[in-house]
Amino acid sequence: MNTKSDSRLCAVIGHPISHSASPAMHNKAYEEANLDFSYVGIDVHPDDLGPALERFKAEGFKGFNVTVPLKEKIIPFLDDVDSLAVSIGAVNTVVNERGRLVGYNTDGRGFIHALTEDLGFDCRGKRVAIIGAGGAARALAFTLLQAFVSELYILNRTVKRANDLCLDLNNDKVFALDINLDESFSVLEDCDLVINTTSVGMYPLVDACPLSSMEWVSDKHCVVDIIYKPKETLFLKEAGKKGAKLSNGAGMLAGQGMLAYEYFTGQETSYQLMKGEVEKNGK
Ligand code: ATR
Repeated sequence: MNTKSDSRLCAVIGHPISHSASPAMHNKAYEEANLDFSYVGIDVHPDDLGPALERFKAEGFKGFNVTVPLKEKIIPFLDDVDSLAVSIGAVNTVVNERGRLVGYNTDGRGFIHALTEDLGFDCRGKRVAIIGAGGAARALAFTLLQAFVSELYILNRTVKRANDLCLDLNNDKVFALDINLDESFSVLEDCDLVINTTSVGMYPLVDACPLSSMEWVSDKHCVVDIIYKPKETLFLKEAGKKGAKLSNGAGMLAGQGMLAYEYFTGQETSYQLMKGEVEKNGK
């Protein structure tokens, strides 16, 4: 860690935090740009969040990323929250703007950046399906609507949760579906992009797939999993067998990190450089 007094400190906070790829990603980008910034992982228990934020202000932290389980809990402690993060109900990036803590959410925008760079996918006018209706799905759903998708389907095991998300999205292009019904698979057949946001298939339980059928996939689909450990989940493997274009969660992590870096430093960085660091950490 850079301990020079003129260094600009940044961090990722969460509980637990030891497996985060963010310190490696940000420090590599600082090094490449020859910037006197440093970035550390700090374990913050949810019960200690208020005092921890006061400490970060007092110590002059430039900004920090926020991960599980603090993304929603942090909102009441912030001085200001931008409108997209308010809609999503979660903050993953906080900037210390002259002693005022301002919250943003770069998860969805990072995801869209990754789609463009990795798959050449333009969301405008496209039919998109999200599997899952949790925090990650919320961030993607609000941002995909801002990116002008033509239809957005939320498929979830607990249909009520998908319906609740649709109500929050409050948009006539959005539809809730039951993950287990054959008619949901027919909808997926006609989608351009299908995204898994559930944790099903994540290391170490790599033999699981969030859908009971992958018959709907064809070579016209883009299929994305936001999991990056393993690099290729069973969901992606099965979609790949049908010729779909694939992308894993390293892109979203790198994309959100790239945007956070811009908030912290006021400079741009390379998405590919950050993605390379995430991939070094993937199993
Ligand atoms: P996150 O914030 O990471 O999105 P979350 O809020 O716990 O996490 O949401 C997890 C999502 O994965 C939910 O959509 C959950 O479905 P339910 O709402 O029905 O619980 C989904 N999920 C988790 N385990 C699943 C499983 N075994 N099969 C299908 N969906 C699953």
